[in-house]
Amino acid sequence: MKHEWSSKFTFILAAVGSAVGLGNIWKFPYITGEYGGGVFILAYLFCIALIGLPIMLAEVALGRRGKQSPVNTMTQLSLEAGGHPAWRLLGWSGMVAGCLILSYYSVIAGEVLAYSFRASSGAFEHQTVDGIKGILNSLVSDPEKLLAWHTIFMALTVLAVAKGVRGGIEKTVTFLMPALFILLIFLVFYAMTTDGFGQAVDFMFTPDADKFFYARSELGQYLLDANGEKIFTWKPMMVAMGHAFFTLSLGMGAIMMYGSYLNRHVSIGQMVLIIISLDTLVALLAGLAIFPLVFANDLNPAAGPGLIFETLPLAFGNMLGGTLVGTLFFVLLFFAALSSAISLIEPTIAWLIESKGIRRIKASVMTGIVVWFIGLGTIFSMTGTTLGDIFQPLVGNISLNSGLFKYNFFQLIDLLTASIMLPLGGLFIAIFAGWVMQQDSTEREFSFKNRFVYPSWQFMIRYVSPFLVAIVFLNIIGIF
Ligand code: PHE
Repeated sequence: MKHEWSSKFTFILAAVGSAVGLGNIWKFPYITGEYGGGVFILAYLFCIALIGLPIMLAEVALGRRGKQSPVNTMTQLSLEAGGHPAWRLLGWSGMVAGCLILSYYSVIAGEVLAYSFRASSGAFEHQTVDGIKGILNSLVSDPEKLLAWHTIFMALTVLAVAKGVRGGIEKTVTFLMPALFILLIFLVFYAMTTDGFGQAVDFMFTPDADKFFYARSELGQYLLDANGEKIFTWKPMMVAMGHAFFTLSLGMGAIMMYGSYLNRHVSIGQMVLIIISLDTLVALLAGLAIFPLVFANDLNPAAGPGLIFETLPLAFGNMLGGTLVGTLFFVLLFFAALSSAISLIEPTIAWLIESKGIRRIKASVMTGIVVWFIGLGTIFSMTGTTLGDIFQPLVGNISLNSGLFKYNFFQLIDLLTASIMLPLGGLFIAIFAGWVMQQDSTEREFSFKNRFVYPSWQFMIRYVSPFLVAIVFLNIIGIF
């Protein structure tokens, strides 16, 4: 046994560190805004409970039983269960997904880092909506700036993984995650004092099915077909399900990897419940901190990836002590992103070390360089500069079940990973844990105290979760 967490708390912290990140604070609010609020949040919570929970249990159990990187864990476990060696492909697709996600994650995390400096220099003080938009624009339309911050973030990620999981991750998460949590609660209190709070609560918790199921333009108007009818789309459902995987770090081996460092005697069920509750809580708090500002300032909830960079600085600029609070917030968000980034490449690094005999430092640098390169695609699709044309062949219109959507490189990678690779990975993990592995081994791995829990998990992982993922996929390809 090479590594193990120092205690079950460090496992929780690391897993929460992986789960809580840009997904909760940057992505969740903007996709909730784009897909109309209430029903989207319901769909997301539904996916967390019925798909995320059973699959996270499975991933931790698989990881702890296999004790290696996901590729080798899958090889070993399928050997043990008499399954086909092709199950190792699950580990492979996870490594690819992790690197692809990190490539754009790093660009956004770079923006967060840039905003820490902007905040500390007092740039947001007494700014108007237009002023704040100008600050964001000057960053995202300048490829050199984005490139510099992306490079810095990747270098820091490489540094952190190179130091090894315990050295690198445990320290970052022990103090910083709780601090981020407290600051978020503070921001929700601040948001309560603005006059957009009621509207925000309405937006987030009053379901409006039309806004979810019918395609709308960026400005929120319904798109109409040739007969003047609204266009039905499954895309928001796909995004909600994909986000459940993304936010919980599931479907690509990150949680499996962390499970492999977990001590045999720890109760997996308890751990997973804590991780999922905290992750969901952070996302909802982020929504409650951000949407009141959207409505109080007449901003567009469907503004897209720039949403937190438009709303929060306005709040920081107008509150007492905002320079300090704003700086602290972006710095903490940066660390939350870093602890997620580490878990995105750890499966690849661990595999390179185990199977290729490469030293950790070298493996980290090599992987970091590859990811850095892929990140250029996202930078160019943000800036819209002519260099972006190089990526044009990859970009274009994709038709998803009667809705026509235009994608740039960043959106394409996001769609491919979060909405397709992670749910597909999760589907296969469910099938493997539910049908291929012997009941004996999973049962022993969990050792649930209550005798009803195991059969419930088994029912969920065998039937419910795979069925739900499959339904969303089938609808997307338009079979129904
Ligand atoms: N869960 C992380 C977030 O919400 C992102 C992530 C996805 C991390 C997949 C690891 C694996 O920010």
